[in-house]
Amino acid sequence: MKKIKIDDIRSVVKEAYEKVKTMQGGKNANYIPFLAKIDPQLFGIALCLPTGEVIEAGDTNYVFGIESVSKVYTAVLVLRQYGADEILNKIGADATGLPFNSIMAILLEKDHPSTPLVNAGAISADSMVKPLGDSNGKWGAIADNMTALSGSTLVLLDELYKSETATNFNNRSIAWLLKNYGRIYDDPDMSLDLYTRQCSMGVTAKQLAIAGCTIANGGLNPVTKEQVFKEELSPKITSLIATVGFYEHTGDWLYNSGIPAKSGVGGGVLGVMPGAFGIAAFAPPLDEFGNSVKAQAAIKYITQKLGLNIFRNNNIDFEM
Ligand code: DON
Repeated sequence: MKKIKIDDIRSVVKEAYEKVKTMQGGKNANYIPFLAKIDPQLFGIALCLPTGEVIEAGDTNYVFGIESVSKVYTAVLVLRQYGADEILNKIGADATGLPFNSIMAILLEKDHPSTPLVNAGAISADSMVKPLGDSNGKWGAIADNMTALSGSTLVLLDELYKSETATNFNNRSIAWLLKNYGRIYDDPDMSLDLYTRQCSMGVTAKQLAIAGCTIANGGLNPVTKEQVFKEELSPKITSLIATVGFYEHTGDWLYNSGIPAKSGVGGGVLGVMPGAFGIAAFAPPLDEFGNSVKAQAAIKYITQKLGLNIFRNNNIDFEM
């Protein structure tokens, strides 16, 4: 069993913040006007422990666009509503090896949309959210699930929602192509709108870290003490994150960092270290693949410094 002092974690988070703060490189997402104008200097790291303590450095209470990290939340919601087997059958749990918004991925694998953590699977997941046929009811379920995972309410960034809606042409094609393949389980336009809205939610690094810890902690929110989902779903959602959290660069990320994590073009990254902590970092400038430069560096630094890696020896003490 590995022993880690909480004080060491506090020091490592601080150290990571100081080291990464001045790092250069990357550019804000510019395909959505709202994201292009966010202050590129913003940077925060939050790490939530199963005790409920959140260790923070920098801009951890700044509200930014959750974007693709919202896919993790809705995946949890449909896992809760339908169970692991039905999600595997209706959506899938495979990496696409292609960009997040790939239409090619749907054409290549038309028997299912691959995973709820790419655009196609996320729109499909939104179509599955119950109560079916009721846009307001579905949105209520999506927002409530976000609150439960993060332990506090996320707010819709209206300007971002308008910006996303005005530019989501590719996602419109995805919704209707999925309808063609029988993978949209409600109205396609409604499902797309729910997806666009969930991506436009405002979140803080602190809220993301708490959601990450709820997943790492077997579904028990360490701050509110609410059992948000069944423990058995925890490895399911973590495996989805591990498989496709950085899209076509997920393998590189896992190889280098050893922690399942999910990125969003708003500059946020949420990481899950099962049984240990949830971690989130936020900084708007993205690398050429759409992932926050500083958030990746900070999370990698912290997990490596703490010597944690999900692929490392579990140190099992066998009994004879
Ligand atoms: O679907 C889109 O274009 C966005 N609303 C979400 C994109 C995103 O964050 C992709 N991931 N890194």
